[in-house]
Amino acid sequence: MNQNIHREISGRGSIPFACFMELALQSYYENQKGIGRSGDFYTSVSVGPVFAELLALQFAEWTANLAQIQIVETGAHQGQFAADLLRWFRQWQPKLFACLQYIIVEPSATRRQWQQETLREFTGHVTWLAKFPAEVTGIIFTNELLDAMPVHRLCWHAAEKRWLEWHVVSDGENFIWQKAEPEKDLVLPEVHPDLQTVLPDGFIHETSPAAIAWWREAAQSLQSGKIITLDYGLTAEEFFQPERGRGTLRAYHRHRVSDDLLANPGEQDLTAHINFTAMQAAGESTGLKTEAFIQQSKFLTQIFEKTVKAPATFPVWNHARIKQFQTLTHPSHLGRFQVLIQTCKP
Ligand SMILES: C[S@@+](CC[C@H](N)C(=O)[O-])C[C@H]1O[C@@H](n2cnc3c(N)ncnc32)[C@H](O)[C@@H]1O
Repeated sequence: MNQNIHREISGRGSIPFACFMELALQSYYENQKGIGRSGDFYTSVSVGPVFAELLALQFAEWTANLAQIQIVETGAHQGQFAADLLRWFRQWQPKLFACLQYIIVEPSATRRQWQQETLREFTGHVTWLAKFPAEVTGIIFTNELLDAMPVHRLCWHAAEKRWLEWHVVSDGENFIWQKAEPEKDLVLPEVHPDLQTVLPDGFIHETSPAAIAWWREAAQSLQSGKIITLDYGLTAEEFFQPERGRGTLRAYHRHRVSDDLLANPGEQDLTAHINFTAMQAAGESTGLKTEAFIQQSKFLTQIFEKTVKAPATFPVWNHARIKQFQTLTHPSHLGRFQVLIQTCKP
């Protein structure tokens, strides 16, 4: 992996951090099958099946009136969410299960193979695509996809009141940070004149055109239904709080967090908070209506309450499953994640 990045840099002189991140993560996610205890980090999916079961109940309610249901997932990794969700539909909503098509958008042949192994029992219900489908009727779903998309790392030049961009250079062995002019096509965040005078020199801001482009493409494909993402992130305004001056990018290795973003590319996860305001605007620009932007704890608790009112449509809340729910809604862990839901009505 290192050699690929060194080669890319030697061809161009320097590369934006976004390019470094893209190359490093391409390799990382091809090799890191395990998420959860055996991997570098946990996700809501890796906590256990309760996450997908709760979402399945909600998806069933949202799609009950459709003749054909599509659920499209990007960033499915091993396919665990799809397996947990399809099991719930098969057991608790067999009629909907019969008309449900689960589509995984997966450009990687390696991950597609992992997913096919996980989903062997659902042959006929799952389709794989390398690119996003042109038209979707049903639900577009992602969990912790957009935080894995490459970000440009901007750096505030206080004296000139403008943005520079952190690039990566190489001395043949190590990767080193270097300030550069921002990429020509990059849309830079506007800084309010009042903020320009107080924003400290070197204040870091990350922006992900890849995540915005993904959301716009997904939103455009939606003919009827909802797009939902669960992830950690901030509103555009929150990115400029004083405590965010070092940016939100972090590296994870064996459940330890590190600020050394350029170390061991391909062997550690790199992730940044997503800009929910930008996602919301991208969807609304295609005509979608924002239905909710709430914390995961609140969103899952609302669904939990439905399962208590109608226990005949949900597995029993035994000790193990209650523990999973507590982890998913814990206010200082996964419960802090945000949920963005947008709707397209035909
Ligand atoms: C943090 S993992 C989350 C996996 C899973 N959704 C979960 O919650 O456990 C991010 C996943 O997104 C995938 N990914 C990143 N960018 C992608 C893209 N442009 N298209 C498809 N998958 C992508 C990675 O390969 C990885 O499997």
